[in-house]
Amino acid sequence: MGTSLNAFALLSVLFVSGQFMMLAQVRGATKVVPAGDISKVEDAQLFHIYYGQSFKVIKNSVDGKSYLLLQNNSRMATRTKYCTGRIKSFVIPLSSCSADTTFFPVSFFELLGLLESLKGITSDSVTSECVLKLYTSGGIKLVNKTDMQQLSQFTAHFISNIDEEQACNYAAFVPLEERTPLQRAEWIKYLATYTNSEARANVVYDAVKQNYLCLSKAAANLTTRFKPVVAWVGYYEGIWSFGKEGFKLQYVTDAGGENVDDTISNNSYNVSNSDEMENFYAILGTVDVVIDETYVLEPEEYRLSAFLENIGVDDKSCFGFLTNQRLWRYDKRAQKPATLDWYDRAISQPQLVLADLMEAFFPTGNYTTTFFRNLAKDEGVTTIGPEMCDRNTSTPMEPTILPCQSGN
Ligand SMILES: *[C@@H]1O[C@H](CO)[C@@H](O)[C@H](O)[C@H]1NC(C)=O
Ligand SMILES: *[C@@H]1O[C@H](CO)[C@@H](O)[C@H](O)[C@H]1NC(C)=O
Ligand SMILES: *[C@@H]1O[C@H](CO)[C@@H](O)[C@H](O)[C@H]1NC(C)=O
Ligand SMILES: *[C@@H]1O[C@H](CO)[C@@H](O)[C@H](O)[C@H]1NC(C)=O
Ligand SMILES: *[C@@H]1O[C@H](CO)[C@@H](O)[C@H](O)[C@H]1NC(C)=O
Ligand SMILES: *[C@@H]1O[C@H](CO)[C@@H](O)[C@H](O)[C@H]1NC(C)=O
Ligand SMILES: *[C@@H]1O[C@H](CO)[C@@H](O)[C@H](O)[C@H]1NC(C)=O
Repeated sequence: MGTSLNAFALLSVLFVSGQFMMLAQVRGATKVVPAGDISKVEDAQLFHIYYGQSFKVIKNSVDGKSYLLLQNNSRMATRTKYCTGRIKSFVIPLSSCSADTTFFPVSFFELLGLLESLKGITSDSVTSECVLKLYTSGGIKLVNKTDMQQLSQFTAHFISNIDEEQACNYAAFVPLEERTPLQRAEWIKYLATYTNSEARANVVYDAVKQNYLCLSKAAANLTTRFKPVVAWVGYYEGIWSFGKEGFKLQYVTDAGGENVDDTISNNSYNVSNSDEMENFYAILGTVDVVIDETYVLEPEEYRLSAFLENIGVDDKSCFGFLTNQRLWRYDKRAQKPATLDWYDRAISQPQLVLADLMEAFFPTGNYTTTFFRNLAKDEGVTTIGPEMCDRNTSTPMEPTILPCQSGN
């Protein structure tokens, strides 16, 4: 939601929880015209943006904080500073920033064209070719994740783990907490408010969303009589279980598939317990497409044989998804050690995931997937390196828009 407000209404945004109160205040107040472009949040549930004339407020419902962003040319910028448990202030546009890249989708920065202001990363475990290139050439420096003194040189330090100790310049960027693929992608608007890049964020999100919805509509039309039944499964310390996160189930239905029976209540199958494994096999027997999410340190070493060993089956003919070669993993694009682009570009560009899944559910043999590889066909892993950056890092990355005809 994009709402404009004045300094009076700001107080209620900051100090009163509940946005109905705030809206009531705004309606009664004189109309405020924000100085720059604005973004309206359409799908995301976990943040809201309110615009004043020379400031913005982001309310983040994941960490419960309000981020007060003050335009650097306003009087408030020099006078106002907040750093409390509930309010933090930042002077924008940010002149430099850093990110805790232990687990962070840097592709949002690339889509906004902000790689030049990203000056520090806490780890080189990133799957962006161009961030790796800037890191190799010294444009982006490695900084110590726990050294707040060192991190204070940046106007903002973006983090995705809100449970750790925080300094005043830390800002939580947490798209993974959202429940659907589009909601996660819309967090590009959250980042854009810090750099006055709303216009760019709107263009990118509109393009991504339109393409996603178009593909999803086309997928709905691919189904013949029965939809393919799909299961996400993972193996961890002797136990198999089904992946049930909301965004995964949403991807399956949006790509024209059907989720494996979600009445399965006991989601734990111990490989040493033959009764439990019989139950697991029985369910797998009903599935058309399996996505194996098992975490491994070396994705390139993980082959079909490893999967078969983990499920304890050597006869491939028992399962339709094996005889029909429909066993997939989302670790096609990886950087050593075990850093997957699935946690980066797949979040900012969900239309690419959808297209991959459509190919997995309705194979044409004609589409080169981005994130998914077919384990049953022994497809390999692409290791990402700085030499693969093939664009000017000063310019924004364009989202990949796929050909799509679905009527509109
Ligand atoms: C505000 O930020 C802009 C863009 O970074 C910069 O050009 C300008 O000099 C800054 N103004 C002030 C008063 O700091
Ligand atoms: C990082 O900073 C912390 C706290 O200042 C310090 O204890 C630690 O030794 C530093 N680590 C490295 C690798 O420099
Ligand atoms: C559910 O799984 C747990 C853990 O493996 C097991 O102890 C329990 O017996 C199972 N319950 C049922 C009803 O199968
Ligand atoms: C799996 O079952 C075996 C044998 O019953 C047991 O020793 C082991 O602790 C179980 N594993 C887990 C993670 O529950
Ligand atoms: C594969 O792609 C080509 C060129 O885009 C197209 O002509 C052909 O019909 C496609 N084949 C299938 C099976 O979709
Ligand atoms: C990259 O883009 C920037 C800004 O558009 C431009 O100034 C620069 O010359 C470009 N660099 C190269 C190598 O093309
Ligand atoms: C769905 O398929 C039907 C029949 O093949 C076709 O006439 C229609 O245009 C398709 N609709 C979309 C939205 O692609």
